[in-house]
Amino acid sequence: MEEIEVIHSWSVPRSLSTCLMYSFAQRDDVEVLDEPLCATFLRFTGFDRPYREELLSKMESDGNKIVKEVIFGPGGKKYRFCKHMAKHRVPGLPDRFMKKGKHIILIRNPLDILSEFDEVAPPSFKELGFADLVTIYSELSELGKDPIIVDEADLQQDPEAILRSLCEDLGIPFQATMLRWEAGPKTFDGVWAQWGYAYESAHKSTGFPPAREYPAPFPFSLYELLEQNLPFYKILRCHVRKTSSLLKTPFPEPDLPVPANKNLLAWVGDEIVTRNDAKVSVFDSIVQGGDGVWEGLRVYNGKIFKLEEHLDRLFDSAKALAFINVPTREEIKQAIFRTLTRNGMFDNAHIRLTLTRGKKVTSGMSPEFNLYGCTLIVLPEWKPPVYDNTHGITLVTATTRRNSPNNLDSKIHHNNLLNNILAKVEGNNANAADAIMLDKDGYVSETNATNIFLVKKGRVLTPHADYCLPGITRATVMDLVVREKFILEERRISLSEFHTADEVWTTGTMGELSPVVKIDGRLVGDGKVGPVTRRLQQAYKNLTEESGVPIPTYKSIN
Ligand SMILES: Cc1ncc(COP(=O)(O)O)c(C=O)c1O
Repeated sequence: MEEIEVIHSWSVPRSLSTCLMYSFAQRDDVEVLDEPLCATFLRFTGFDRPYREELLSKMESDGNKIVKEVIFGPGGKKYRFCKHMAKHRVPGLPDRFMKKGKHIILIRNPLDILSEFDEVAPPSFKELGFADLVTIYSELSELGKDPIIVDEADLQQDPEAILRSLCEDLGIPFQATMLRWEAGPKTFDGVWAQWGYAYESAHKSTGFPPAREYPAPFPFSLYELLEQNLPFYKILRCHVRKTSSLLKTPFPEPDLPVPANKNLLAWVGDEIVTRNDAKVSVFDSIVQGGDGVWEGLRVYNGKIFKLEEHLDRLFDSAKALAFINVPTREEIKQAIFRTLTRNGMFDNAHIRLTLTRGKKVTSGMSPEFNLYGCTLIVLPEWKPPVYDNTHGITLVTATTRRNSPNNLDSKIHHNNLLNNILAKVEGNNANAADAIMLDKDGYVSETNATNIFLVKKGRVLTPHADYCLPGITRATVMDLVVREKFILEERRISLSEFHTADEVWTTGTMGELSPVVKIDGRLVGDGKVGPVTRRLQQAYKNLTEESGVPIPTYKSIN
């Protein structure tokens, strides 16, 4: 006779695992086993249960024997569905236990589980078994046997779709009988079923019950347990094959502009974390009011360009906004160096450095609620220059005016960027790289993201930094203009002067020097990148190669 094929179903308590077993039991090619390692687990751990003695007297507890004779023992059907609690996989079971058969992992949000735990076994980390479930997942992955992960919430939302995809993944045809079963106890229920508990609702069921419309209040005495278990649930939840639309955004995972940034490490608060964990609290001032300051820095050839200048501006912005408990310059530098080193980012990288006013003790506007100190974020990414600096870019003029010192001083490099974002929306709508912003009197201030220069009859002009950010690239390029022996003029410039300029370029750390070849539908000069622009681009490139603060590289202490 053909050997029976085993389907292992691993789960945590209160997770519709019994219903899943009932569902598989309806198939004509499956026989089921209810927690065959339950007695093994009780004997091994010494855990108490009201039915402990009865169970140990009726059920084999020698794990080796169970695996050999019961789980992989002879049977009358093609498949055997074994419902297991993850915690039941005690040490010392035979190797082939995990290697043979197919594996399903059934997960459920601990928020729901803990709300339903009863007194049979007081909830504890071990009783839940989420860590065991993650261990099972990683062991199976290492064996090249990626398990199929199903979330109970998805099963409740659309049982047929989830069962169909589960069967497909198991390589067995879906059978519609899996959707319905008779109410009442089953002959294959474990001994403990007669003691009620989780089986009461399973016995009432005739199919997968829909989720409650509104959840039960959470028992807050279990809050710490929730915090301990949620990360494990989340690890597994990432690997769910098919999810319901209720639980998952309907958007497919987007492509990243630079795929290598998928696995990066960022500094948040006082530690280095993975991309998925790079988050701030909802109590953080940056969430509550855009109350933060920032800098964009570039890394060239093992050095951070203009690091001191960026830190000067960061501290000035923080002081202007009356931040307190600001980290020291040395602390911020260390965070930057450590983050870059961890990422192995020594070239072609950009850092978004953010300092927020920090977490608040309660929602509200007042900085008096900020009692935790500032939050520091170092977000490095691989980032080639973002504009077409070879052929040039197109700009349009936005109707949104740049903030004046009358309302919010643009010299503060803050995160309240809506003024610029509204202009950027106008630029996007016009298919332009960025949008020019005018000041309150109609003179050009800058673009939504960069400073701006023009060349007319051999003179280089840029607006006063009254309504714009005093850019560090702007200051660098102004020095280079003088060094390259062009005449530099800083004054109010009207839009028509930009429309009729010989050359125009923008400046910013992220995009460096970007030639502008069209503004508001008018060609700049002859529509080609001009000679002054080219010369300054080269001078800027030379400077980035030769100057900057070296990143101290990792040195072994041995
Ligand atoms: C509005 C605005 N203008 C100009 C710049 C360019 O400044 P920097 O040259 O210091 O990068 C930035 C960069 O953050 C900016 O946000």
